[in-house]
Amino acid sequence: MKNRLNVFFLIFGCILLISFIQKLDDHKISKKNVELIIPKGFPKPNYDFTTNKLTPDGFVLGRKLFYDPILSKDSSISCQSCHQRVAAFAHIDHALSHGFDGKIGTRNVPALQNLIWKDAYMADGGVNNLEVQPINPITNPIEMNESLAHVISKLKQNKEYVILFKKAFKDNVVNSECLLKALAQFTGLMISANSRYDKYVAKKDTFSLQEINGLKLFRAKCEGCHKEPLFTDNSYRNNGLNPDSSLNDTGRGKITKTETDNYKFKVPSLRNIEVTFPYMHDGRYRKLKDVLIHYSTSLNHNSTADEEINKIGELSDKERKDIIAFLLTLTDKEFLNDRRFINPNKR
Ligand code: HEC
Ligand code: HEC
Repeated sequence: MKNRLNVFFLIFGCILLISFIQKLDDHKISKKNVELIIPKGFPKPNYDFTTNKLTPDGFVLGRKLFYDPILSKDSSISCQSCHQRVAAFAHIDHALSHGFDGKIGTRNVPALQNLIWKDAYMADGGVNNLEVQPINPITNPIEMNESLAHVISKLKQNKEYVILFKKAFKDNVVNSECLLKALAQFTGLMISANSRYDKYVAKKDTFSLQEINGLKLFRAKCEGCHKEPLFTDNSYRNNGLNPDSSLNDTGRGKITKTETDNYKFKVPSLRNIEVTFPYMHDGRYRKLKDVLIHYSTSLNHNSTADEEINKIGELSDKERKDIIAFLLTLTDKEFLNDRRFINPNKR
């Protein structure tokens, strides 16, 4: 009896020890963790890591910066204030972004995923390089309201950061180039390619009849813009939304200053769409049901509206439900639970 009790305590002790060691290792990043693996069927990425070599130290620095409010003027806002991991790095339940001093932005926070396949960022494509992108939120008065120069001076005074920058970029001191490169290593590795849809395509999972029918409808009506496997063709289109008169956001037209581009927005990916609500550049729809009602019955065929929307036609209640059932197969639990992206300051 006593022997059995000893064995029991020994096993129990081992389990405790292993889980403690695992906890310590939670935020460790190995070489393997930062290997860039192009998912099967995905095209060649647009962002090239050859001038920003992926390393565990570079990723760890980028992750720390992403979760650190030090990037904002009064240390109140970090990238994650708007880009939340559980929402595929979108902002749950906020139609428009909330930034510095509670100020409300003009656009909905998009998911951060498969960014290295994009050729431009933002709903209007106003930024064309992943490394340059964070300058926007850092310096925007209604987002982080800070200057790059001041961020760098704050980081230089922080002993931990000085060590982390040295580890990641060798002889380079703390500077904005390294700051932006580290952030790009972290956000660039946010790759979502393990949803049930991906497994179905790879013949490793099956779909219900409803999901199969939803996929068929999707391919007939939506694929022209939301192209597989990224679920975007990276183009700018007007998908028939009524312009919001209070925001008066003309989208791509603002960047190109061309009238024929007015009200066109970058086609967003639909991966993880289940968790990235609300929807559209201004977050006007809370539910996928509302999005399907828009495409089915309330399209605005104004002068820049895209021809592809004419293919959709009126969708029956069943058809809408089938399409939604298919869209839910794009949820990638492996990506959403990927431990590499967890806030390192939390245990
Ligand atoms: C105040 C909220 C807010 C903060 C803070 C913020 N972002 Fe964003 N982010 C947004 C919004 C809103 C957009 C979309 C803007 C648009 O479409 O014009 C965006 C877009 C992006 C994009 C482009 C995504 C795409 O698919 O086009 C990236 C990348 C990004 N943010 C990374 C970051 C990083 C890195 C930080 C921290 C340095 C950060 N963001 C801080 C709100 C925020
Ligand atoms: C003409 C091209 C086009 C077609 C066809 C199209 N979409 Fe879209 N879709 C877009 C664009 C552009 C946006 C972004 C609009 C914006 O940001 O305001 C969008 C946005 C969405 C969103 C919201 C995404 C987000 O993250 O906010 C969903 C969901 C969606 N579409 C589903 C569908 C479905 C389902 C179909 C087929 C029934 C479809 N789309 C057909 C171009 C298209």
